[in-house]
Amino acid sequence: MPSLRTLDFGTPRRSATQEVALEVDGVAVSVPAGTSVMRACIEAGSKVPKLCATDSLEPFGSCRLCLVEIDGRKGYPASCTTVVEAGMKVRTQSEPLARIRRGVMELYISDHPLDCLTCSANGNCELQDMAGVVGLREVRYGMDGAHHLDAKKDESNPYFTFDPAKCIVCSRCVRACEEVQGTFALTIDSRGFASAVSAGANSPFLDSECVSCGACVQACPTATLIEKSVIEKGQAEHAHITTCAYCGVGCSFRAEMKGTEVVRMVPDENGRANHGHSCVKGRFAWGYATHKDRIRKPMIRQRITDPWQEVSWEQAVAHAAGELRRIQAKYGRDSIGGITSSRCTNEETYLVQKLVRAAFGNNNVDTCARVCHSPTGYGLKATMGESAGTQDFDSIRATDVILLIGANPTDGHPVFASAMKRRMREGARLIIVDPRAIDLVDGPHVQADFHLQLRPGTNVAVINALAHVIAAEGMLDERFVAARCEPEAYANWKRFVLEPRNSPEALEPLTGVPAALVRGAARLFATGGNAAIYYGLGVTEHSQGSTMVMGIANLAMATGNIGREGVGVNPLRGQNNVQGSCDMGSFPHEFPGYRHVSHLPTRRQFEGAWGVELAAEPGLRIPNMFDAALDGSFKALYVQGEDIAQSDPGTQHVTAALGALECLIVQDLFLNETAKFAHVFFPGASFLEKDGTFTNAERRISRVRKVMPPLAGLADWEATVALSNALGYPMHYEHAGQILDEIARLTPTFTGVSFESIDRLGSIQWPCNEQAPEGTPVMHIDEFVRGKGHFVVTEFVPTDERVNARYPLILTTGRILSQYNVGAQTRRTANVAWHAEDRLDIHPHDAEERGIREGDWVGIASRAGETVLRARISERMQPGVVYTTFHFPGSGANVITTENSDWATNCPEYKVTAVQVSLVSHPSEWQERYRRFSEEQLRLVETRKPALT
Ligand code: SF4
Ligand code: SF4
Ligand code: SF4
Ligand code: FES
Repeated sequence: MPSLRTLDFGTPRRSATQEVALEVDGVAVSVPAGTSVMRACIEAGSKVPKLCATDSLEPFGSCRLCLVEIDGRKGYPASCTTVVEAGMKVRTQSEPLARIRRGVMELYISDHPLDCLTCSANGNCELQDMAGVVGLREVRYGMDGAHHLDAKKDESNPYFTFDPAKCIVCSRCVRACEEVQGTFALTIDSRGFASAVSAGANSPFLDSECVSCGACVQACPTATLIEKSVIEKGQAEHAHITTCAYCGVGCSFRAEMKGTEVVRMVPDENGRANHGHSCVKGRFAWGYATHKDRIRKPMIRQRITDPWQEVSWEQAVAHAAGELRRIQAKYGRDSIGGITSSRCTNEETYLVQKLVRAAFGNNNVDTCARVCHSPTGYGLKATMGESAGTQDFDSIRATDVILLIGANPTDGHPVFASAMKRRMREGARLIIVDPRAIDLVDGPHVQADFHLQLRPGTNVAVINALAHVIAAEGMLDERFVAARCEPEAYANWKRFVLEPRNSPEALEPLTGVPAALVRGAARLFATGGNAAIYYGLGVTEHSQGSTMVMGIANLAMATGNIGREGVGVNPLRGQNNVQGSCDMGSFPHEFPGYRHVSHLPTRRQFEGAWGVELAAEPGLRIPNMFDAALDGSFKALYVQGEDIAQSDPGTQHVTAALGALECLIVQDLFLNETAKFAHVFFPGASFLEKDGTFTNAERRISRVRKVMPPLAGLADWEATVALSNALGYPMHYEHAGQILDEIARLTPTFTGVSFESIDRLGSIQWPCNEQAPEGTPVMHIDEFVRGKGHFVVTEFVPTDERVNARYPLILTTGRILSQYNVGAQTRRTANVAWHAEDRLDIHPHDAEERGIREGDWVGIASRAGETVLRARISERMQPGVVYTTFHFPGSGANVITTENSDWATNCPEYKVTAVQVSLVSHPSEWQERYRRFSEEQLRLVETRKPALT
């Protein structure tokens, strides 16, 4: 079991090829050049007292507690700020050192509350520890003089308190906010005795620039900044390493526990995706796991107008299986299907697709990745041969130019955003392609060199214009292309991009981006050193999502930016396990490992392993399932962990389809929007209640560990197994590790992956097999997975969704830091303090034209529907473009999004909807209907009949 306290080496590890040998307290030690004397001492096994130093931050040298003696040096240098030199002889203990350290500690303690026994940090306070280490026995100065003991606590942040009376002004919090998080929210105000930590201009934390990442809380050596959960529950007793269940960064956490109760989540410094950092969601927003809204017993009902009946798992599973078999007997084998979720583990999604293929006997399985990153899979497979990003996150450390397209990492992928900002502070340049002025365009100590603020829907035109400049100005990496790519396809592509119609000047009227900016950005990208492309849903969720992904791959190949550190094509995945749910064969046309169901040898392999004949025809995609439900040929659906009624476009179409089903089985933590149409409810298990793995955006497979028993008695995979058994297709797994073993046996890129190998290596980036037993951080090094890289001509085709006099604005959607996806989890946490409602962002010019003021209710009407939100006037928008988030079901963002989708994958075009916005005084008709339906469903669940015991 991981320990609660990890050894702190005081200053960061240095990586240098040259080693420096020295002696500490008579012990020889050798460390990389640039290492501090403090770190060398601790590595040599000596203890050096310290307060202002910690190994996640650069040394600062303010507390004067870490003094040492060095032969040949006068005085007592601070070991944290002194760098090792060859042959140094260091002493960490002596009578003069002890005397000085005691004096320093005495001064600190004389202005510190002496309430150690009742302090929440008791037992986990570095000040307390250091008082013991230096042997402080008395404080001579008394408490009568000036002190800070009456300073007022700041309780404004929902998750942590700031008690300045306990502050020793070590500046660790300030430095954590700058160096680790990159927000620069904190300062030390005033000087000398009056100096004090301040969030912004002396505002409370909640009103400041603080984004509640918690890095300062983690860095604070005292109880000044401390989690409210620790104050409430006391110090933890044990810990487990697990993986965040929110975004695709996949941060590793130490779940610190008291019995089966989480006390706090601390980002794991050994986590290779996050290196000890986190955001507000992973660190603090886990309270939903035990929220009172959790449904803890299975439920069934005949019609969706009936009250729910609680039943045992056995009854629920038998009922569900009976319905599925009845429906198949009546309507045919293909009348049922399943949907997997990127919020569930690899093992769970694997089992659901196995259930559908082997027990349902068809390929009607799809995943929520359909509606986010399916174009990534298609586009990267077509060009490079593998449906995944090419790098690890650490690759950014070697990047000189970052091209960020359609992604907003400070909100969507915050820990990676911190890594990006750090690299930018070191000098990396940034090009942003985004319709909105996202934070990174102009943030504290980081500024984009170019912001190509395009019209939504013109991504492909912009990528073609960038390629045009690079080709026309002789900046292509012809040597790389000649060695690594197919010549004919390249020649076609080059001819295409060189056409005058693809020049930035020709495309400017369409994209709205000044040609000079495109030219400047193209030159920087092609000649600025290692260039890496990062992109998000602003690329994929378009009618040309797959075309744009291929355009991105073309650009990376054409400039030789593939196959080494610092470059590559990197999709920033939305949910925690988007990569995994795709890898696990959740698509209707692919087995695990992206192998087509019509490929006979692959099908034979799965038939052999699963002992059943498998269908050779691809099954229904999610939108096809909805259409088939409405035309009466699709009658039953098993949805695990996905809220399609809220997250999929065309809400009214989706809910009509769900309403037409004879049996909808929903497995979730809460009665989500989809479950309001369900006939069977399987209570789900949160990530804290089950074992398994998640695969993040870097293809990194990390362990999810059960830290508490499932509140409803079964982990999600156990319920799937029970359903399969009841359907007469037995599955035999005693623990989730056996499912992963089966995945590894059947999937060439997972051959070396097991619970054991992940436990041993910490985490593994696939491919992991005989050629790469420890995984593959960077792909396509010597050759592309498909052999030669394949350029694809990316003709720009405007979306059918056009603005006109009736719908003159373009609506685009996105997410916000504090909320996550449909909000089912984060809305049930104190994160609502930052975002309690979805709003419509509108440019001041568009607002003024319509007489709209901040906070006014506005109707947003599209060709698909209408909804009402409050307006926020925002300069981030360009005139003609409005924006909203989709975290609250009553907002109805997807009532107005259309059914347009990517030509190759059906990924919905969430990012372009023509709308009109006008002042209104009451909710939309849909909102009224939704409210009535939702209230009735909540009443039906609240009045559910208890199970007979
Ligand atoms: S709040 Fe904590 S970390 Fe910040 S200066 Fe005070 S004691 Fe140091
Ligand atoms: S919580 Fe994060 S953003 Fe806020 S002050 Fe602390 S380090 Fe800065
Ligand atoms: S960045 Fe993503 S994975 Fe990391 S803590 Fe935040 S939500 Fe979780
Ligand atoms: S730890 Fe070195 S001066 Fe504070």
